[in-house]
Amino acid sequence: MIKPIALSATHMECQNLKETVPVLTDLLAFEKLAEKPGEVKLKHPNSDWVLYVHETGGDAPAKQMHNHWGVRVATTGEVDTAYEYIRANKEKYGIKQIAQPLFNHGSYSLYFLEPGTNGWEIECYESALRKESMARKAGGVYAPHWTMPYSAERFPGRGYVPQAFTHGTLACEDMEASRKFYMDTLGLETHQANPNVFYIKHPSTKCYVVCARRQDFKRFSPNFRFTITVGSEDEVATAHDWLKASAKERGISELADVQTNGSVSSFLVGDPDNNWWEVTSPN
Ligand SMILES: [Fe+2]
Repeated sequence: MIKPIALSATHMECQNLKETVPVLTDLLAFEKLAEKPGEVKLKHPNSDWVLYVHETGGDAPAKQMHNHWGVRVATTGEVDTAYEYIRANKEKYGIKQIAQPLFNHGSYSLYFLEPGTNGWEIECYESALRKESMARKAGGVYAPHWTMPYSAERFPGRGYVPQAFTHGTLACEDMEASRKFYMDTLGLETHQANPNVFYIKHPSTKCYVVCARRQDFKRFSPNFRFTITVGSEDEVATAHDWLKASAKERGISELADVQTNGSVSSFLVGDPDNNWWEVTSPN
């Protein structure tokens, strides 16, 4: 199997960076690390992985809410405050939909749709974590993802503070085939959350990908993907050779060629449900 050192990034696509990026920075506490035409690189200051946003104009298809990303706040009250704040600023940020917060599988969450077609969740596990065993469940994904709280002074005036960028989501049809692929091919951990959902995680990073069984779901372009980093350029080449030789038995839907950009090598691979993943060497 591939031996990643981290689940290091995720990529989303939007219609217009000028509309989408302010939602991520002003409402979700992301910071801009870099930009070039058509692409912005963002990071939540309290989280390890990075978020790339690609501008694809009107071609960016609307995502169903089961393809969403999520940030976490520390207290239940902050979810309610976030709901009021985002609702009050809906027009300013072009928010198309926002649903009232609700308890769902242990989390108290609100969901909204940013103008570039992507769903976002603001979640909180404060109530669920009153039960001590919750913090150890499912690979520790419910435990706080931060060691130092992100201070309210750095995100003032909203009444809530996103403490971490916690997760993205995927849909799959056959949970066992997908789980096998993520563990035995991508070399990641999986943790069952409920009969229809498991989490995909790297042991050394807090962030995770929710994999949910769905009957009917869309396939997206590689602009929507998750990235794992391996130790070196040589390891990228070895992983690619290995996948090429065993693509069919591993259920790989597509395998693109290795691309090299400066000292970084990477390639794209489609999982059994055509969700895109990227294997890259360190930046
Ligand atoms: Fe979620």
